[in-house]
Amino acid sequence: MFLNNLQLTNFRNYRDCSIDFDSIKTLVVGENAQGKTNILEAVYYLSHNDSYRIQKDSELILWGESFCKIKGDITKYEMDLSLEVIINPPSKKILKVNDIKKTKSSDFLGNIVSVNFCVDDLLLIRGVPQDRRKWIDSSISSIYPAYKDRLDKYNKIRNHRNNILKDNKANSNSSLIKTLDAFDEQLIITGSNIIYLRLKYLKEIDSIAKEKHKIIAESENLSMVYQSSVFEDIDISDDKNFSIEEISKRFEEKLSERKQEELIRAQTLVGPHRDDLKFFINGFDALSFASQGQQRTIVLSLKLSELDIIKEKIDEKPVLLLDDVLAELDKTRQNFLLKSIGSDIQTIITSVDILSFEKEFLKDVKIYKVKDGKIDG
Ligand SMILES: Nc1ncnc2c1ncn2[C@@H]1O[C@H](COP(=O)(O)OP(=O)(O)OP(=O)(O)O)[C@@H](O)[C@H]1O
Ligand SMILES: [Mg+2]
Repeated sequence: MFLNNLQLTNFRNYRDCSIDFDSIKTLVVGENAQGKTNILEAVYYLSHNDSYRIQKDSELILWGESFCKIKGDITKYEMDLSLEVIINPPSKKILKVNDIKKTKSSDFLGNIVSVNFCVDDLLLIRGVPQDRRKWIDSSISSIYPAYKDRLDKYNKIRNHRNNILKDNKANSNSSLIKTLDAFDEQLIITGSNIIYLRLKYLKEIDSIAKEKHKIIAESENLSMVYQSSVFEDIDISDDKNFSIEEISKRFEEKLSERKQEELIRAQTLVGPHRDDLKFFINGFDALSFASQGQQRTIVLSLKLSELDIIKEKIDEKPVLLLDDVLAELDKTRQNFLLKSIGSDIQTIITSVDILSFEKEFLKDVKIYKVKDGKIDG
């Protein structure tokens, strides 16, 4: 797949901007705070129907304006497609594919698939559990768009359930408990499905990432553990595979075990929204014991594995977004990354200068300069 053109209207610090991506590699160069990451964020939004650095969509609108628009023209399976997002609060955002409105997120997702690699990705190791869940969920949604619908459904059920728990705490109303039982069943069905798909995906990425990690750091063995509120800790490389039925059964047991606590704390305490992922190097917790460089190697291995999985699953090459990461890597890791990308993956790279790039690499790269929300080719 190929992103041919990106048009932004009132998006972040861009009032009106159009960029043609006519080369397989694009380098967006500019000083700090000029709008480099904003370009990548717009591409990311077209592919994930979300951004990794916002709480609310309205943050994306140019200050003082009421709406913003992101439009991308892409080529996929040799067909031209146009994707559009219009954010105009308080109205619901509009998603369009070839000018036709799409109401389901899954009908929009998957048209352009991207993998984003930025400095903040170290949060995958150092951040809070939510950062890791967000990564797992968006990676699965890239190859399996219906997953996002399931996740939205699960979160809706969980919010309803939380409201009942809160009402019950405030009013001690016993009829509310009956309503809670009805929500439990739906929570278990959707939640078990999410855990099942996460474990399946993590198994795939674990085996690829282990190999990549070994190539960069020969003596290091990367492993992952899924920490679930439904299960005991699960070593991802274990042979054991859990069926949806097994997960549902344990979910139900845990939910009834913790019901009293839920009533007191007035929140849902069991389910995929409480789960976490831990990384280990040679058996040692990467959060506590890995150096910054080792943590970067884990993230690099994960991102490149994500790229491999997408290539295999969708039979198309995703777009790779590299936000200022090359300068952060030493020469070995830089070379590994650039070699792994190869010459046939559309890559959009941002950097404050071109000094960290080898002459050979720059030969085939289209360079754009960005200053104060304006792009110069
Ligand atoms: N909603 C918004 N409206 C207007 N400007 C915004 C909005 N959101 C962010 N900005 C501004 O956009 C500018 C560029 O942000 P961006 O993150 O793209 O910078 P950058 O070029 O990647 O810089 P750095 O090299 O520091 O990462 C910032 O100055 C930021 O304040
Ligand atoms: Mg930036």
